[in-house]
Amino acid sequence: MRKRWRYKLLKYFAIAGLITLVVILAFNSTIRPSLPKTPVPKELYDVISPSTYKFILNQPELCENRRPFLVLMIPLTLKDTEARTAIRRTWGQDGLIPLVTILHLFVIGQPAQSDPVLQEHLVRESKEYGDIIQMDFVDSYHNLTIKTMMIMNWIATYCQGAGYAMKIDADIFLNVHYLVDYLHEQSESSGKDYITGSVISDAVPNRDSFNKWYISEDLYPDSWYPPYVSGAAYVFSVDLARKISWASRFVQPIPLEDVYVGLCLHVLGVKPVYATKFLGFRNLFEVRRLKYERCTFAKHIIVNGFNPQNLIRIWHDFQKSYFTC
Ligand SMILES: *[C@@H]1O[C@H](CO)[C@@H](O)[C@H](O)[C@H]1NC(C)=O
Repeated sequence: MRKRWRYKLLKYFAIAGLITLVVILAFNSTIRPSLPKTPVPKELYDVISPSTYKFILNQPELCENRRPFLVLMIPLTLKDTEARTAIRRTWGQDGLIPLVTILHLFVIGQPAQSDPVLQEHLVRESKEYGDIIQMDFVDSYHNLTIKTMMIMNWIATYCQGAGYAMKIDADIFLNVHYLVDYLHEQSESSGKDYITGSVISDAVPNRDSFNKWYISEDLYPDSWYPPYVSGAAYVFSVDLARKISWASRFVQPIPLEDVYVGLCLHVLGVKPVYATKFLGFRNLFEVRRLKYERCTFAKHIIVNGFNPQNLIRIWHDFQKSYFTC
């Protein structure tokens, strides 16, 4: 009797082992090989190279003599005056969290048609608030990859002493308290090579030329994308700014800025971390729109889709009793 049991047990172990082996093999075969590290041709790299563009407005001393915990980098355009005002009054305001230095910077290109009046306003705004950088590439949807790489380069050049940087779009609600708490919780693991947000895995190139995310096979011949963080908002340890800038020498520019950062991370062998709670049931970087409800928003780091008026409107209510949720 006992012998038969032992035999049965052995059989089960053998089967379990075999299944494990098959599963491991199946998973391994889905791990993509690293991209070959061949530099992109100079004329292509020049499109996103920091040396191609010049500063019109800069804040080179913003991080001097201080080590901010977090730097918020907000891409927008010349005409988005209202959005800048709303952000300065809400999640971008100084001193929101006692003893935690958080800086914000608006990152602007140039309009396709020059607008001297607005430009003059911007220069004045920049003098008043010291929170604007502007470079001489044309602002357009397709040029967002250029802007993202300028953000990486700015952090790497002028703010290496910071802890984290965040790229965040202007139409987003940011729960600064939760973000700071969350980053403090991660602090042991996230000193370097750390990037988090809403991770998109298993995305594939869109070959429909009418689609917003279309990409031609000439520009991107592969049939898959590595995991990347949604471009709406993501946070990274500051060391990655320099590393992503370096990796961009090996990745041909494509007009999808978030995929592009994902390709650079792939070169570096860095995996983006999905910011979730409760086994993935709550996405902390909520890139869908959510109806405003104080205690729902208190449980997210970002929520997508706010115009300046709505942002100011909900902020007051959110601030007044964030801690009661
Ligand atoms: C991107 O910026 C470059 C440099 O300013 C400009 O020549 C080009 O037209 C822009 N591309 C688009 C699609 O706007």
